[in-house]
Amino acid sequence: MEQRVAKRSDNLESSLNQVRNVFDVSNILEKRQARPQIIHYYFINRLTLLFYNSHGFFHYGISYDGKYKKDDHKEHARIIERYIRERDAKKVMELGSGLGPNIAFLARRNPNVVFDGVDLSNKPLNRNTTPPNAFFYFGDFHHLSQFEDDSYDIIYIIEALCYATDKSRVLHEARRKLRTGGLLIVFDGYQRNRVEPLNPSEGVMWRLISKSLACETIEYVQVVEDYMRKEFSITEVKDLTQCVLPSLFRFKRLARFYFRRPTLARAVNTFVPHDVVKNTIHILLLPISVERHVGCYYMHVLQKE
Ligand SMILES: C[S@@+](CC[C@H](N)C(=O)[O-])C[C@H]1O[C@@H](n2cnc3c(N)ncnc32)[C@H](O)[C@@H]1O
Repeated sequence: MEQRVAKRSDNLESSLNQVRNVFDVSNILEKRQARPQIIHYYFINRLTLLFYNSHGFFHYGISYDGKYKKDDHKEHARIIERYIRERDAKKVMELGSGLGPNIAFLARRNPNVVFDGVDLSNKPLNRNTTPPNAFFYFGDFHHLSQFEDDSYDIIYIIEALCYATDKSRVLHEARRKLRTGGLLIVFDGYQRNRVEPLNPSEGVMWRLISKSLACETIEYVQVVEDYMRKEFSITEVKDLTQCVLPSLFRFKRLARFYFRRPTLARAVNTFVPHDVVKNTIHILLLPISVERHVGCYYMHVLQKE
């Protein structure tokens, strides 16, 4: 019953119409998001996200008290640090390290640990501030042959596994690089497991969210957990959806301002790169997807047996 009331009051239909007034929705839905598109999206957005997020974090903050604070972007790294210290880890790798803020934070506080970061589209913008125990490589996490097998204590991946075109392969590669007993820690957004299929509008909403994040499809938690179980044992699962909501709501007013002025928005679209303006779509729709129990955010801790 509660869910039905939420469905009537969350303005999904009018939000989708607002998106249609400003963007060519069928074009967005048809355009495949593969490696070149991901590289372009993150390359073009790095200055935008630096401006919005500060400190170069390309992920949502984890806010336990329901209020967004800039410091909440460091919470993933703080959680990972607990595992590093608990296990006395010496060698750690981040897959999809973006502009390197997680590694920079961890490497500064853990000078005796070596950190390797691999990313398809970015390396840190300011190498002068990179700690000496942090190393960054351009590369695709589907192919990690340049890194030593059975050598890492911990590998982690924050909001990047969703971009994998072959998740089984990425998990297999990560497993090969971990020593026995090593951990893979995954933070990511998913489609929530559900019995009822999405209705047509929810389907469009979810595909638009995925594409506006340069993701081909954001899969069900259960589907990704099945891939995980083939390579690892899952030792911890945390639903952090409520904790990322304050970050999701942060730019809602900006998105509303934009979509309520379609003439202005279409004018903006003519000179701001498409990969930048399309972010307004997931800013508008992601909170609705969470209200409708479609979108969710999880942490998984996996162990190599
Ligand atoms: C949402 S950002 C997260 C960045 C970083 N983990 C953070 O927390 O700030 C996703 C990152 O994954 C990277 N990525 C996507 N596909 C990749 C691939 N196949 N191999 C390596 N990196 C990839 C992107 O270039 C982007 O920097």
